[in-house]
Amino acid sequence: MYAQMVDTGVASLRAVEELSPEEQAFQERIDADIKIEPRDWMTEGYRKTLIRQISQHAHSEIVGQLPEGNWVTRAPTLKRKTILLAKIQDEAGHGLYLYSAAETLGVSRDQMTLDLLSGKAKYSSIFNYPTLSWADIGMIGWLVDGAAIINQIPLCRCSYGPYARAMVRICKEEAFHARQGFDVVMALCRGTPEQKQMAQEALNRWWWPALMMFGPPDTESVNSAQSARWKIKLFSNDELRQRMVDQTVPQAEFLGLSIPDPDLRWNEERGQYDFGAIDWSEFYSVLKGNGPCNRDRIQTRRKAWDDGAWFRDGLNAHAEKQTAKSKAA
Ligand code: 3HC
Repeated sequence: MYAQMVDTGVASLRAVEELSPEEQAFQERIDADIKIEPRDWMTEGYRKTLIRQISQHAHSEIVGQLPEGNWVTRAPTLKRKTILLAKIQDEAGHGLYLYSAAETLGVSRDQMTLDLLSGKAKYSSIFNYPTLSWADIGMIGWLVDGAAIINQIPLCRCSYGPYARAMVRICKEEAFHARQGFDVVMALCRGTPEQKQMAQEALNRWWWPALMMFGPPDTESVNSAQSARWKIKLFSNDELRQRMVDQTVPQAEFLGLSIPDPDLRWNEERGQYDFGAIDWSEFYSVLKGNGPCNRDRIQTRRKAWDDGAWFRDGLNAHAEKQTAKSKAA
């Protein structure tokens, strides 16, 4: 599977003979499934790719709190509200583990944050969609966290030690998030016809953006080939997307909801579902900053950064004082 992905990636890879002896030794370690640790020699490309991916992943966890935070004060019961609060706090924790993992590669958290605020660093397209009803909170858990698990379980086995280890705990928590989302949707589907309709409308809004989360089709994925060779990516975008469809369709059937795709059908020969064409122009438009909530999300993060300036200044002043004290001692 991995070899096939290396072959089909859009970017061409350098032949092994073209690599320097150091690069060859590095690749051999990866091929032998030896984890790369922060103090090990690594190619500049490997380091940069990891910083890009891990920081984008961290930003997604942080920005991902915003659509859900929107519903904390409007959750329908005390139980739902405490679950939602716990989940949002988990996402903050995931962001912190991931920023820490990226810091081991020599980039500061401040720099990563500034890259997010300036628009240089991306975050997941999915968090640029609004949460219009309570059912959207269920969809985020069921579909978005469901997709995140499918994408992230393989990352627990990726070649970079700190990233792989961070992902183990993240995936355990994401599994709880997905279950609570399914539970929210199930409660709506077993409720009044209006509640079931609310769930169906939310599914209609979130289905295609959830499939886009896995990234562009393999034929357009610029980073896949190299990331596969470095075992940062163990499965291709399309392979994981297919897994999402195959896993979710029976769940939707159980709930009595219809997937908004007239071309969806079981393919007996492949043992997988065939599904309709994804509107990639929408995905690329969201990436360019033109999704329904892009501006709002970045504005909110900028405000949080500005509002926290006094606190960061206080911490720095305290740290400087402590350093001066210990030097004097
Ligand atoms: N949203 C925004 N940008 C995306 C994207 C998405 N859904 N999918 C791909 N892209 C970007 C890539 O970052 C890349 O841009 P860049 O080169 O400027 O960074 C470009 O589109 C081309 O895509 P590639 O397939 O070549 O990029 P990758 O090899 O990096 O693959 C990925 C994309 C599969 C998302 C991979 O980066 C990955 O597995 N990342 C780790 C997981 C992650 O970040 N998940 C985000 C969601 S986290 C989450 O959902 C939180 C949870 O609490 C719900």
